[in-house]
Amino acid sequence: MSNDMKALDFCDVVLLNGPNLNLLGTREPDLYGADTLEDIETKLTVKAQELGLKLEARQTNFEGELVSLIQQSKSMGAKFLIINAAAYTHTSIAIRDAISAVDVAFIEVHLSNIYKRERFRHHSYLSDRAEAVICGFGAMGYDVALDYVIGKLKGSL
Ligand code: DQA
Repeated sequence: MSNDMKALDFCDVVLLNGPNLNLLGTREPDLYGADTLEDIETKLTVKAQELGLKLEARQTNFEGELVSLIQQSKSMGAKFLIINAAAYTHTSIAIRDAISAVDVAFIEVHLSNIYKRERFRHHSYLSDRAEAVICGFGAMGYDVALDYVIGKLKGSL
């Protein structure tokens, strides 16, 4: 874990975002929308908190750091991961292995519809392990993911 990455605290849900998602808001807004990552993280953190759940959010541009955060999720008691691994979705066996190793339920999120884009984005190393996959809804996809997680954790789903 790099020095400037804050270790996870005990929590119910972990929201992880991968490379280049720190640029949301200015990065190809036609594809990814106008919301910043801070907007998304704040909205989800507050919504979870209002329902008595603790959500921890982290973004990193580094593959190994995503692996470490996934490993920590389990030890920090997380029951669900919401993850947009960005480009690593299509390349990373290490992230797939980390998710298999911790055995924490997860929702895979993509802002854009990856199936409407280049062929190399059609394959995900994560989808066949995911409880659900959400793509093409823009930032709303994260809200849908959290609503599902809340439903599961509060027993209404
Ligand atoms: C993305 C889709 C990926 O193909 C891409 O590399 C990203 C973002 C999405 O949210 O639409 O960085 O995960």
